Amino acid sequence: MPRTGIAGNMTPDEPVSRFEVIDPQTISVLVSTFYATVREHQRLGEIFNRRLDGRWEEHLGKMNLFWQSVLLKNRTYSGRPVPAHQKQTELVSEDFTEWLKVFRSVAHDLFTPHLAQEIITYAERIAQSLWFACLGTAGARLPDGLVQDLKETEQANA
Ligand code: HEM
Repeated sequence: MPRTGIAGNMTPDEPVSRFEVIDPQTISVLVSTFYATVREHQRLGEIFNRRLDGRWEEHLGKMNLFWQSVLLKNRTYSGRPVPAHQKQTELVSEDFTEWLKVFRSVAHDLFTPHLAQEIITYAERIAQSLWFACLGTAGARLPDGLVQDLKETEQANA
């Protein structure tokens, strides 16, 4: 049975229908749903709306290509995420924790558990490297919610 529905559209009695494939169409739903949700977040929404005022279409197009490149390895994205975040000097560690919370919830709402986990694992790794690039000074503690196994490895090696 093709599953194209979104969990939020279902009544409680209906089985939840989630995407069983990762392709440009389902990635596009992931991107649009994630940004629609994160724009409602009290702090992150303010940052995104202020920085992307008048540029949302451009950003969503870029993020579709970014996630296609990550998940489908089709090399359609050619941007520079690190400087794009380093210039946001207002970012704090908690922002990465919150970003991931929203992302995890949206991915689980949209995709089957196995696919959601695959997507989330990529997001966690990228979030971690962005955090290191922006805030990872000597002695800084990895924020909650970033890749746990790496956090434990770091602690074990400390
Ligand atoms: C700490 C939470 C985050 C905030 C507040 C944030 C905010 C933003 C903003 C405002 C932009 C647009 C910058 C501009 O065009 O001026 C942007 C770009 C971008 N973000 Fe984030 N971001 C966050 C975390 C992440 C994470 C975890 C990822 C990936 C998993 C990500 C991936 C990207 C990418 C790929 C771009 C486009 C960069 C480019 O090519 O211009 N962001 N982000």
